[in-house]
Amino acid sequence: MDYFNSNIGKSPIFESLLRSAKMVAATDVTILIKGETGTGKEMLATAIQKESPRSDKPFITLNCAALPEGLVESELFGHKKGAFTGAVANKQGLFHAADGGTLFLDEINSLPLAIQTKLLRFLESGECLAVGETKPYLVNVRIIAATNSDLNKQIAEGSFRQDLFFRLNVVPIEIPPLKDRTEDIEILINHFLSQFATSYSIIPPKFNKQTLKVLRSYNWPGNIRELRNLCERLSILLSGQTIEPENLPHEFTTHLSSTSDCVFVLPENGIDLDDLEASIIHQALLRTNGNRSKSARLLGLSRDTLLYRIKKYGIAAQ
Ligand SMILES: Nc1ncnc2c1ncn2[C@@H]1O[C@H](COP(=O)(O)OP(=O)(O)OP(=O)(O)O)[C@@H](O)[C@H]1O
Ligand SMILES: [Mg+2]
Repeated sequence: MDYFNSNIGKSPIFESLLRSAKMVAATDVTILIKGETGTGKEMLATAIQKESPRSDKPFITLNCAALPEGLVESELFGHKKGAFTGAVANKQGLFHAADGGTLFLDEINSLPLAIQTKLLRFLESGECLAVGETKPYLVNVRIIAATNSDLNKQIAEGSFRQDLFFRLNVVPIEIPPLKDRTEDIEILINHFLSQFATSYSIIPPKFNKQTLKVLRSYNWPGNIRELRNLCERLSILLSGQTIEPENLPHEFTTHLSSTSDCVFVLPENGIDLDDLEASIIHQALLRTNGNRSKSARLLGLSRDTLLYRIKKYGIAAQ
């Protein structure tokens, strides 16, 4: 898919992101992509690489959260034979493999502090040092980093180097969460439906107006990944049919009743309404020392209705 020309977003916020991304793609500048999970950070990093003058050179990815701390350094910078137990031969690292191209450091927020220092050294001088070596080597690598957590918070906690942050943050690109670009939801749905119709050779389903309204008001914690998965599921299960709000998984409709203007939010597993009512009447009576008129006022009931309910639930006099 051609990310920059595929019309997968029309919201002003996404269009401006595309414009900046296209401009920086043409340069060698270090990029820090920020965004919640599933917003498309890896997809954007890949698109920037494809659009850059380094497009025919290697594009190497390391997920900094996926390796144990002890292995990250050797994975990135390589090691010398005998540098540690198990280092049976010299090994070249990902910096070497990415020479001339781009290294995508995903989840940079998980990079151990000791390695952050070595990455800073590379960004400042272009020098890398293999584990167990004393002589550094030079490489020409463009860094794109991504984070789904707030690095400023980590700096304050002491788990991320501020100087490295400044070096990485030369051009920050923040991908907005899907709930902030609701204008793009329909475009993305159409994009995914036609993608799945082709890959599964099926007739795509149609989303009716009410369903689209529900989707626009949902908060999308999993962002575009969650939307894509929903489209895939409905394409398979309801191919050729019209999708009504009832066809959506329950989390899409329960949020409608759990908005902040609800006085009481119904728990996932439901409640026993009679028990709740009896308990609230009991609390009102306790608070008013058993005064029925005051309790009725607290509950917005007439005194007679309260007396009826006290009898109904067999609530003992206070
Ligand atoms: N603009 C887009 N158009 C179409 N599909 C997209 C777009 N952005 C993301 N996706 C899809 O959403 C899914 C998640 O994208 P990606 O893996 O790039 O997100 P991420 O931000 O790296 O997530 P995480 O933080 O969980 O690693 C992928 O399936 C990708 O194909
Ligand atoms: Mg990712």
